[in-house]
Amino acid sequence: GAASKGDYRHFMLKEIHEQPAVIAAALEGRLGERSVLVESFGPEAEVLFRQVRQIHIVACGTSYHAGMVARYWLERFAGVPVQVEVASEYRYRQVVVPEGTLFVTLSQSGETADTLAALRFARERGYLASLAICNVPGSSLVRESDLTLMTQAGPEIGVASTKAFTTQLTALMLLTLALGRVRGLDEAVQADLVAALRGLPGLVERVLALDPEIEALSMAFAEKHHALFLGRGAHFPIALEGALKLKEISYIHAEAYPAGELKHGPLALVDSEMPVISVAPNDELLDKLKSNLQEVRARGGVLFVFADEQVGMAEEEGVHVLHLPHVHEALAPILYTLPLQLLSYHVAVLKGTDVDQPRNLAKSVTVE
Ligand code: G6P
Repeated sequence: GAASKGDYRHFMLKEIHEQPAVIAAALEGRLGERSVLVESFGPEAEVLFRQVRQIHIVACGTSYHAGMVARYWLERFAGVPVQVEVASEYRYRQVVVPEGTLFVTLSQSGETADTLAALRFARERGYLASLAICNVPGSSLVRESDLTLMTQAGPEIGVASTKAFTTQLTALMLLTLALGRVRGLDEAVQADLVAALRGLPGLVERVLALDPEIEALSMAFAEKHHALFLGRGAHFPIALEGALKLKEISYIHAEAYPAGELKHGPLALVDSEMPVISVAPNDELLDKLKSNLQEVRARGGVLFVFADEQVGMAEEEGVHVLHLPHVHEALAPILYTLPLQLLSYHVAVLKGTDVDQPRNLAKSVTVE
């Protein structure tokens, strides 16, 4: 049943391995042949989506990182300006709400106190409508929102969120394409992304098969006290999520930076005791990364690079490369999350922490 670990040592590992199936479930019944079915968001969605001029996304923790990725997608494919904020900050601001603003909450549980309070605050502020992307049917957030899209990840027991995050991202790509569709996104672009989404569960499966290689990399982290994650564009939030996972379950201090900011501070911290993890799916980033790489190497830093197999980045002294299968560039943030989840998991196991119940943390933060 859902509350059993089956053959897995921890719920977290089981939930990581459920991702091909739950991503498929999140897509089920929501894709047409060449576009997303807008009615997946409810019967009123089409009329409302036509009126959207702006989006405010509010969430906490891992869900907030999903919102940060969505900003890149929504601006690029739906042409809508997006703001993303953590609920505990949003709800205490004098928020200005322009006409036609859609309010979006993201939450695994649908019960996070700050996210729920933010929704209640937003309901008094003249938003066009509220949409909850959530994993728990019947949760407070779902009950109190105008539109809902369920992420279909099934119960998540591990405190560190894994499958809830990748299904949120999947749902957010559906939102992007639904909004894009009513706003005239090029049909070929829609068809291309829909086809890529269909192929995603299979690619996720292939990345999970790299587990032994990722486990081997984890040895280099067990004795370290700090780690730095770098990413650019939509992979900056993925770097943030990788750092959060490592902090949460292995208790190693980890920070994430947009790769272009390396020179503006974090480079001062790099030495042989500070591994640097880079999420580098595309050529554009790889070119810039090569020079960052020299800088990290020059300070004795050891690099761990997750890169697309088609750009063929070479291993060298102090540079470990793990190649991932090629994926539609827009969906890469989903795929590149997986090795970071597995890396944190194996580091935590090596360190002997309580993976499913990390100290001081709760699955659902229902008090402020
Ligand atoms: C807690 C959990 C995180 C989760 C966050 C937001 O901090 O440990 O895994 O991302 O709450 O939870 P939600 O249920 O709103 O997504």
